Amino acid sequence: MARNCEILIIGGGIIGLAIAIELKSQGAAVTILCRNFAEAATHAAAGMLAPQAEEIPPSPMLDLCLESRALYPDWIHKLESLTGLNAGYWACGILAPRYQHSEKMLDRASLLIHQPDLGEEAIGGFWFPQDGQVDNRALAKVLWMAAQELGIEIHTGIHVDAFGTGEPARFKSDSSITHLETNQGIWKADRYILATGAWSQDLLPIPVFPRKGQMLSVRVLDRENLPLKQVLYGEESYIVPRQDGRIIVGATSENVGFQAGNTAIGVHQLLSAAIRLYPPIQHFTLEETWYGFRPATPDEFPILGSSPYGNLTLAAGHYRNGILLAPVTASTIAQFVLTEKPDPRLEAFHWSRYG
Ligand code: GLY
Repeated sequence: MARNCEILIIGGGIIGLAIAIELKSQGAAVTILCRNFAEAATHAAAGMLAPQAEEIPPSPMLDLCLESRALYPDWIHKLESLTGLNAGYWACGILAPRYQHSEKMLDRASLLIHQPDLGEEAIGGFWFPQDGQVDNRALAKVLWMAAQELGIEIHTGIHVDAFGTGEPARFKSDSSITHLETNQGIWKADRYILATGAWSQDLLPIPVFPRKGQMLSVRVLDRENLPLKQVLYGEESYIVPRQDGRIIVGATSENVGFQAGNTAIGVHQLLSAAIRLYPPIQHFTLEETWYGFRPATPDEFPILGSSPYGNLTLAAGHYRNGILLAPVTASTIAQFVLTEKPDPRLEAFHWSRYG
């Protein structure tokens, strides 16, 4: 027998959860179908909130990222109040050392005031005080708990195999989705939201591809004297210190499909780039390696808003900025789903830009 819902969100990563929480907070009945929470890019990320350090050029994407960064403090406060948990949000700023001269950059002496012991090759760089970080793993737990607190139904282990459209052609305009075919039977809803990250092509021919990132962490044992007080965003790697002494080093960027595992060369590249950037890291205890799959798109913008199916909304392809873009994606997509009014902020992110 088919299960019936009002709004079904396919995908239980940060984007799916954040949209669900926003919709539910505004009174909608929401159900999430999640294939495998642990595989979401949400867990693999470093949690940088870095529109400036990532050097996103002036564009609707930069505007969206800056808007989302500004939403972060209130968004986190709301989630933490709801759950009583800490998401590790830290407006620590990001220092971006450079090995070559760039216009308007700070000199090395100024850089060293922010962060002593930088590698000798760092001749200068940039300081972005408004960029920061959140502990993405802690945030994932907070979002999951918040969803449960609000009474959002979350079903895990569900793989959506296909959209049922009542028509033979897939992705045909003016059609709508009648149901989802899953490994656990048929699910029906009035509205559907696709938030399946790097796996989106399993369901729709939209250009979202996996871009693998390998990561590792080291740990400083003396939590009273943390050596790093802000993120370091270098030319070859970034170093993200948490307040509990953990330090994340990322990330490779590989076009290898969904090839699993950390490789020796990947870990070697990360460690040598991190030690070049910040030599003291060589003495810290190696703790963990992992990897994940960013949902990349050809122009590196996400795909947001309406789809050729009248009752399907898209929220996928956040590439390097899924953690950063979660609050603004949640508010704009929830608003769009609830009001069905086009949002000018979403125009640049419509799937049809790919023709
Ligand atoms: N946002 C950093 C990364 O994707 O590696």
